[in-house]
Amino acid sequence: MSSASTANIDVLLSEHRRFPPPEPFRSHALVRDGTFAADADRDPVAFWEARARELEWITPWHSALEWTPPFAKWFLGGTLNASVNCVDRHIRGARRNAAAIIWEGEPGDRRTLTYWDLYREVNQAANMLRALGVKKGDRVAIYLPLVPEAVVSMLACARIGAIHSVVFGGFSPDSLRDRINDAGATVLITADGGYRRGQVVPLKRNADAAIAECPTIEHVVVVQRRSGSGPDESFAEMQEGRDHWWHRLMRKAAQWCEPEVMDAEDLLFILYTSGTTGKPKGIAHSTGGYLTGAAATMKYVFDLRDDDVFWCTADVGWITGHSYLTYGPLANGATCVLYEGAPDWPTQDRFWSMCERYGVTIFYTAPTAIRAFMKWGTSFVTPHDLSRLRLLGSVGEPINPEAWIWYHEVIGKGRCPIVDTWWQTETGAIMITPLPGATETKPGSATMPFPGIRAALMDANANEIVEGGGLLTITHPWPSMLRTIWGDRQRYVDTYFSKWPGRPDLYFAGDGAKRDADGYYWILGRVDDVLNVAGHRIGTMEVESALVDHPAVAEAAVVGKHHELKGQAIAAFVTLRAGHHASSELRDTLREHVALKIGALARPDDILFSADLPKTRSGKIMRRLLRDIAEGRALGDTTTLADPSVVASLKDQYESQES
Ligand code: WTA
Repeated sequence: MSSASTANIDVLLSEHRRFPPPEPFRSHALVRDGTFAADADRDPVAFWEARARELEWITPWHSALEWTPPFAKWFLGGTLNASVNCVDRHIRGARRNAAAIIWEGEPGDRRTLTYWDLYREVNQAANMLRALGVKKGDRVAIYLPLVPEAVVSMLACARIGAIHSVVFGGFSPDSLRDRINDAGATVLITADGGYRRGQVVPLKRNADAAIAECPTIEHVVVVQRRSGSGPDESFAEMQEGRDHWWHRLMRKAAQWCEPEVMDAEDLLFILYTSGTTGKPKGIAHSTGGYLTGAAATMKYVFDLRDDDVFWCTADVGWITGHSYLTYGPLANGATCVLYEGAPDWPTQDRFWSMCERYGVTIFYTAPTAIRAFMKWGTSFVTPHDLSRLRLLGSVGEPINPEAWIWYHEVIGKGRCPIVDTWWQTETGAIMITPLPGATETKPGSATMPFPGIRAALMDANANEIVEGGGLLTITHPWPSMLRTIWGDRQRYVDTYFSKWPGRPDLYFAGDGAKRDADGYYWILGRVDDVLNVAGHRIGTMEVESALVDHPAVAEAAVVGKHHELKGQAIAAFVTLRAGHHASSELRDTLREHVALKIGALARPDDILFSADLPKTRSGKIMRRLLRDIAEGRALGDTTTLADPSVVASLKDQYESQES
């Protein structure tokens, strides 16, 4: 493990604070002691069957699990429809008139959809897609701002058995194009624009640029977001025959759409995530297993009750937006807040004013946001009444104990338990987490596996590490695990189940972790070439490919360096082609080039021009040394380098640039 993680271990070892579930939270909690987890541990499959029974099935399964490592199938023979579980179920009962979605746009516009409203919209949108020729198994790409139509679109796909692939609205046209083409999507749902820090994000224009190179796209449905000012031609040029306004099609769509009967193992969606190579991976999730995992974790990790107002600040473009803004909460009939924009727009108290306005009771965000709130200061928090909050959550990266304590004291006023939830796009649902009424928490630790989940730490030879640091693995299949990588079964096997030869039953998460004497897990971060910038996974190769794509660049190496707010920032080392010269203009151009190719989230913080990169004699770039340079550490072992002088001069250059 890198010295960064070793340093991390030292910090964590000094963390001795303990937070038992506070009263009265504990006495009212769904899970108050260890028996729930202990029962699950005795028989995880029976536990998951009980959770699956909390959903509505069309036909019951005949066998719970078929495990042929590394391929799992759950709830075989069972059929269900995810949209029926998320809407139809609730309109038959007491939740019919309850708010499903309380939405606020960045400019301040608001909409509330009851379960009945949502039910109607989902049915109509499903009919709209069917009218465009979308059939079971077809792929629909969704490239939207965080508007209610994003959730409606996902559920409409689920209703007719189409596989949705949501692409984060901050991604560039190239990123969108690659994802559409990999999935072979036939329909794209987008918007004329979205809002981010007061600016219009021209989604339709980006989409047009992307689909110029997407031969499979037949129809584009455009949500009119810029209402009030009318459709603005410059943001949405509509192409006759191909492009359609959402609201016009919806007006024509029938009210009732017969839901498709889906096999538990039929795919519900694909979501692309970064890996160690340049090509994003289409993580494929099943209908029955995924929904079981998302619904159960939503209920038990967030101790969900009918009167809760749940706000998960993630975008629908990430897995957190799928599991805890759409499927998990809606399967439980919860009331969710959705917010389109930035936390500091128009002022840095936007989140707290919204928590106050809607009486948010459960708030789920990322450490990078918490660190930003800390930096902005408590004066943005204290004027707001946060007394309805009862539970706080964190996800996306390790939360540093200082940020945890600040969250606990300043936001939670010492009253609210914190659930630090470790999971991944691939796991579909929360895997390691406290149960807020039962688990004593330690700041910085995600604590222990969720009931029914079996985790372990291994060394390189698959020897289990009971106490100490190791590679995090999941040792037993779970319902919401990914089923494959879209179109690349072999990559699924190679990436997740080949870390330990001869053990295709061990899922390798790509994270390092430490286990303490109490069996608590402390996640240390990625051990592969994947960066975690502000809670978003970015492959180093993706950024490198974007840099090399620029005509001035001969070669590039990208590493993560510690960043106070973002967790990690991107540092790039670039060698130029003959005839090109280093300059601050070129540095800016390259930073913009990466933003253009991938999206602003991948824009490098630092770019260092160098005549050479440190390489082994076999030509492999030594990223470990580049990390040492970027983080200002003493250089590690340089003896295997082809030319050891390269790295010393790079270090001098980097440091003189920083000062
Ligand atoms: C990291 C996000 C520490 C981890 C749900 C993982 C975390 C990657 C935590 C997955 C946490 C997520 N503590 N690290 N509570 N949650 N991570 O696929 O490195 O976007 O492998 O899923 O985020 O990122 P992804």
